[in-house]
Amino acid sequence: MQFDFQAMKPMDRYELLLGTVLPRPITIVTTLSADGALNAAPYSLFNVVSHDPPVIMIAVLPHPERRLKDTAANVFATREFVVNLVPRSLAEAMNITNVDAPPGTNELALAKLESTRSTSVRPPRIAKSPVAFECRLLTSLSFNSDQAVLFGEVVTAFVSDDLVLDAAHGVIDAPKLNLFGAMHAARWYCSTTDRFEMVRFTWAQWTNEGKV
Ligand SMILES: Cc1cc2nc3c(=O)[nH]c(=O)nc-3n(C[C@H](O)[C@H](O)[C@H](O)COP(=O)(O)O)c2cc1C
Repeated sequence: MQFDFQAMKPMDRYELLLGTVLPRPITIVTTLSADGALNAAPYSLFNVVSHDPPVIMIAVLPHPERRLKDTAANVFATREFVVNLVPRSLAEAMNITNVDAPPGTNELALAKLESTRSTSVRPPRIAKSPVAFECRLLTSLSFNSDQAVLFGEVVTAFVSDDLVLDAAHGVIDAPKLNLFGAMHAARWYCSTTDRFEMVRFTWAQWTNEGKV
């Protein structure tokens, strides 16, 4: 079946797109408003888009009131944000930070998540998040005035000591992160414990093995 995206309602497109492009990584983004109020919200439309320079993107969709969500408004005001990764142990707290609280509400306090000072940017990181990327806004894209795709340059990465396997080369104990993914219908999630391994090979290895 073909879906004509031009004919579909935006929320039906949302359902289809977010019900198929999955699993998605999950972050709680912490920001400060221009007057210093702490804001936190989960985002799963996010990923690494470059390592040189190191860049992370976050897609902030329109607020239902057709205005920018607080995360985007704060980033445009302060040009800084922190991308906190969310382990399974913080899933329920993450869900609380999703609440559509009025601007100025500290969602971390609602979720009983403690924050701690970041190294290079003013927004704090979440103390129990095993990995936090401190970002400065590099650039942004807008497809409409009520939404924004934010590209942040990572200036400092915090990784919990017990997860670092080789500090000199940035090797992290990925399974031990115990992260989880966002799935469909804005309410389903998956764990990352069901893994399989597949080694990448070069053309030379492939031909030496006589497979062509
Ligand atoms: C797991 C999860 C992932 C989410 N991902 C996004 C996302 O990528 N983009 C977005 O605009 N909203 C996303 N949301 C919804 C926002 O977190 C929600 O609208 C929040 O209230 C925005 O807060 P803010 O106005 O403080 O930025 C997500 C919610 C959850 C629970």
